[in-house]
Amino acid sequence: MTEQLESIVEQLDPLRLRAVQQLGPINTSSALDEWNRRYLGRNRGELTKLYGLIPALPKEERRVIGQRINAVKNELELLLNEKREALRQREPVQALEQERIDVTLPGRMQRPGYMHPVSRTILEITQVFQKMGFWIVQGPEVETDYYNFRALNFPTDHPARDMQDSFWIVPGEILLRTQTSPMQMRIMQNMLPPVRAVVPGRVFREEDIDATHEAVFHQVEGLLIDEQCTMADLKGCLERFAREMFGANIRTRFRGSYFPFTEPSAEMDVNCTVCDGAGCPTCKYTGWVELLGAGMVDPRVLRGAGYDPGRYRGFAFGVGVERVAMAKYVVPDVRLFSQNDLRLLRQF
Ligand code: PHE
Repeated sequence: MTEQLESIVEQLDPLRLRAVQQLGPINTSSALDEWNRRYLGRNRGELTKLYGLIPALPKEERRVIGQRINAVKNELELLLNEKREALRQREPVQALEQERIDVTLPGRMQRPGYMHPVSRTILEITQVFQKMGFWIVQGPEVETDYYNFRALNFPTDHPARDMQDSFWIVPGEILLRTQTSPMQMRIMQNMLPPVRAVVPGRVFREEDIDATHEAVFHQVEGLLIDEQCTMADLKGCLERFAREMFGANIRTRFRGSYFPFTEPSAEMDVNCTVCDGAGCPTCKYTGWVELLGAGMVDPRVLRGAGYDPGRYRGFAFGVGVERVAMAKYVVPDVRLFSQNDLRLLRQF
């Protein structure tokens, strides 16, 4: 055996052993590629280099050693492929393990939503009247001069129109409704008596804004028409409403008032819940908060709707929703409702 052959044989077994040992713990494909390059690489692979020594050997030794190197090479390639396949199968498992969700972590709290105090108050008001047999009806926010004023007995030059500075869309013809009362006529034109309806909705007035006045606010209109209906019925109905809304201890008072479409007319106040009657900016130091306007439907309005005023009578009222909400939930300033401050809204 030549010296060269001896040196190749001496290298071959330790090389094989090292390669097999190193392959064992490999668990990533990049480490496997590295291993492949190191032992079987085309140019600098340790095993590949042994082939380069063969041509220097005598002819009869070349074949034998060639076969032995080949045997090691085949074995290593086999192990390499097995390892590749094993890693490939483990990859999805590894990915899942990395993305594992810790189901023991505490959850994130989902806060429930809040109903806006104005929406909630509208719901409460309409529910009280629903229990008394009123229907809930809705109407348009953009109205004609006819329904908003003329049909309600406001003549074109009537000074009462100054009470409600309007947002006109077409001056003198089309406007944002200043009250929900236009629905009185719309309902009567579409129904035969008896009528019992409430109309919640937004109204618009060009007001000077302060603690109790906003340019956009809400009303709930009420209309009842029947053959027998008196001012006492109106009072009884509204007092019942006040007790249902605020509890049995609420105090109410009626004051004579004026509206062109009711005769007689009144306004109903409740005692101020913000100061409990002691006097504060919300009640303008009177101890009372005005909640609504009301009255017996004027015969001229009935006639305009095609109803016979000799046979039918009725009452109407218009509740200020924000006023009710302020009194019920002790909110001192109407502007708080439209500021969307979560500290207020979260309380509902
Ligand atoms: N529409 C009147 C207002 O906005 C309130 C009202 C309604 C008065 C119904 C009487 C009858 O002030």
